[in-house]
Amino acid sequence: MFVSDCLGVNSLGHLTIGGRDTVELAQTYGTPLYVMDENEIRRACESYRESINKYYSGRGLVTYASKAFCCKAVCKVAMEEQLGLDVVSIGELYTAQSVGFPAERIFFHGNNKTVQELQAAIEYGVGQIVVDNLTELELLNQLAVSQGKMAKILFRIKPGIDAHTHDFVRTGQIDSKFGFALETGEAMQAVKEAAGMKGVHLLGMHCHIGSQIFDIEPFEHAAEVMISFMADVKAETGLELEMLDLGGGFGIKYLPEHDPVAYDQYMQRVSETVKKACAARSFKTPFIVIEPGRSIAGPAGITLYTVGAIKEIPNVRTYVSIDGGMGDNPRYALYKSEYEALVANKASQPKTHTVTIAGKCCESGDLIGENMPLQDVRVGDIIAVLATGAYNYSMASNYNRIPKPPVVMLKDGEARVVVKRETLEDIVRNDML
Ligand code: LLP
Repeated sequence: MFVSDCLGVNSLGHLTIGGRDTVELAQTYGTPLYVMDENEIRRACESYRESINKYYSGRGLVTYASKAFCCKAVCKVAMEEQLGLDVVSIGELYTAQSVGFPAERIFFHGNNKTVQELQAAIEYGVGQIVVDNLTELELLNQLAVSQGKMAKILFRIKPGIDAHTHDFVRTGQIDSKFGFALETGEAMQAVKEAAGMKGVHLLGMHCHIGSQIFDIEPFEHAAEVMISFMADVKAETGLELEMLDLGGGFGIKYLPEHDPVAYDQYMQRVSETVKKACAARSFKTPFIVIEPGRSIAGPAGITLYTVGAIKEIPNVRTYVSIDGGMGDNPRYALYKSEYEALVANKASQPKTHTVTIAGKCCESGDLIGENMPLQDVRVGDIIAVLATGAYNYSMASNYNRIPKPPVVMLKDGEARVVVKRETLEDIVRNDML
């Protein structure tokens, strides 16, 4: 009925998440409020893990892309679920470290890691630093040598696939700020340079072709391109790379009409592709890593808001203003990303109205969505925006000095605050006179 399995409607006609009444949650914790269902997060982790066991004999690692939603609690969940962790900044690494996330299961990404970040990664013993470019390779080597360490690395490769067109194209992605190009020989050159370095040990290759992708074909093609390159590396340098990280990007259901591919279907097809491509080049099948972010955190979260002013502009539109907005969910303002919304206290009623949900920021573009179907909404109602678990809290800002909402996590229906609501004191914490 809803975009996520953890949602339902109770006998009062209220929306529930993880079995809990959202109207009660809003009363207890206040709005705006992010609510996440830990059980749903764990179910997603488990499906990915099982699909690797089933189709790739368990020779792989599911790595949670923490940029989707990063806080101590979710890092701990990923750790307990035996996942790896993708971090992309010192802040994400620090969060992982603060819960004792095993360094060998961490992947450090980023196209411009700072000296401080590389040093922190070496010191913590991050198992895979994903090197993006030659400048970084040289810097990392120097830093590792000076610390008497050997950094284990992957290379980020641009496989030349743009998955964001209707019919994905297989060339043209050379124009990306991320990674080494294949076509120009840059990637092969980097492999040769790394082979001569004392501070780095090249484990394998990485690619990431985009996000919110519904088709499997671009992933299959990326896997073929990557295996072919790894076989070329073997042929040209004798180096047999053992790890292939295929990135994340699996689409989720934001709207009822979205139809994402089941995780195990994706894994089945990609595993077959990898095995076939390896057989064709007599290359040993590598250890595989996948890095889902959105599809682990997204469906598990919702955001609750209280309705303030409602402005009906005859023959134009109806603005329903909420107590949050682009500060806690900038995705419509940034990408025109669409969401499903409903009146949480009237969840069993039909959606008879069409409204624009507006945030409270001093900016016309601060909208959660336009022309959205919604129940008959009144001042004081609670609005729930669904599937906001990924790239909402993690992309939140303090624009207009609005404090960020808290995150409440539900486990087997028990609620706990995993991120506190920001206070006004937090807002001025770093100000100096
Ligand atoms: N691995 C790498 C190297 C990535 O860059 C990303 C996402 C992922 C994994 C996880 O991708 P996912 O499974 O979550 O699609 N802010 C945008 C999304 C940016 C994604 C960036 N990289 C949004 O709100 O849609």
